[in-house]
Order: sequence, then C-alpha cells, then structure tokens
Amino acid sequence: RQADGFAELLLAWYDRHARDLPWRVPPAKVAAGLRQDPYLVWLSEIMLQQTTVSAVRPYFRTFVEKWPTVGDLAAAPVDDVMKAWAGLGYYSRARNLKKCAEMVVSQHGGRFPDTEAGLRTLPGIGPYTAAAISAIAFDRPSAVVDGNVERVVTRYRAIATPLPEAKPEIGAFVASTVPHSRPGDFAQAMMDLGATICTPKRPACVLCPLRDGCRALKAGDPEFYPVKAAK
Ligand code: ADE
Repeated sequence: RQADGFAELLLAWYDRHARDLPWRVPPAKVAAGLRQDPYLVWLSEIMLQQTTVSAVRPYFRTFVEKWPTVGDLAAAPVDDVMKAWAGLGYYSRARNLKKCAEMVVSQHGGRFPDTEAGLRTLPGIGPYTAAAISAIAFDRPSAVVDGNVERVVTRYRAIATPLPEAKPEIGAFVASTVPHSRPGDFAQAMMDLGATICTPKRPACVLCPLRDGCRALKAGDPEFYPVKAAK
C-alpha cells in the first residue's frame, strides 16, 4: 500500500481541528448520525468555486435566510437571486444556480441526485463539484480533488510531474486512499489540511498529522510542490 494509515491519521486530525463552517455538519454530529443537507452542500460548493471561504460566508448566510430550501430558491424571481449574488462575481454561477434549483424540483422531486453521474447532468455541476457533493452530502467514496488536495498529495507523494499533467496521478492516489468509512469527512479533512496546515507558503509541517509519511518533508522542501507547467 502506498498510503498506510493516511486516512486514519487525517480523520483523527479532523476530529480535533475541523474548521467551523456554516454549511458543515461537524464530525461529532456526523458520528451521532446527523446528515449534511445536500442543498447547503451544493450551494456552498457553487459559491466556493473561484471564491474564498471568507468571501462566501456572508453570502451563504443571506441565501439560506432568504431561501432555506431548494424549492424556495427554485420559486424565487431570478432578479432577486442575481441581486443577492451581486459582489460574488462569475455571474454565470448564479444563473446556473437558479436553473439547477428549478431542475431539481421539476425533474427530481426536489431532491438532489445522490450519484456523481446524476449530479453532473445538472447546470453548473462539473466533475469536481459532483464529486464533492457526492462525498460530502451522500457519504460516497468519490475522489474529491481541488487545489488544496493537489498540494497535499503532490507533497505527500513527492509528485514532481507538473500540473495539470499530474492530475490523473493525483486522482488515482486519492481514489486509492478514500476510506469506505467517513468519505465525506475525509474529503473535507483534505481541504482543511490544505487550507490550514499544508499551505502554499511556509506549511506548518510540525503540526501535520501526515508528516511521518510525507516524502516532500523527508526530502526537505515541501514548498517545491506542486510543480506548475511553465507558461
Ligand atoms: N472549498 C471547497 N469546498 C469546501 C468545503 N466543503 N469545505 C471547505 N473548503 C472548501
């Protein structure tokens, strides 16, 4: 095995250090049987495309107050949705958000599809977002790979192939490492580790639960990874 203990160590760290995010059910509550709301997971993932967590927070809060369910969003006037989105940027996301809500109601009885393939048929949901919703909302063992995860994995495995060429290798590693228990927490733990410990500059390796197996740390220069293709 290329990653013995990876998921176990990461999940134990997440149990202690998960970020407190408004769309997230914390690990202790997941363990107690509480489930994520697919609508909130979807809304947060669309908002977080090309946008930081701190910029998204107030918008997420406004949307959930105005439209607590996907049915409420589907029924809202599109101009109201565009107005509430103003300032977040990339406005095609807002138009697709509204269309997607309408389709979930008209074609899926108000419930989001619970597979990656089903999710990808909806407007605004590409391969990354489908995997994220599948894992986080439905606890399926999807390989969720965003920029944070690319950094964690290229460092852990010392993958020197430049991005984007390295993507298949990164995806294969994540797919081989996703645990069948708690895949949703695993996906969120990877993102949190990349955002708070395995940062682009000056990663906090002394605090990292994966330091013993990290090849980049062993070689002495974690910041070298990920390698980007020359422009
Ligand atoms: N970035 C994208 N999706 C995220 C999530 N679910 N939690 C934290 N950061 C994210």
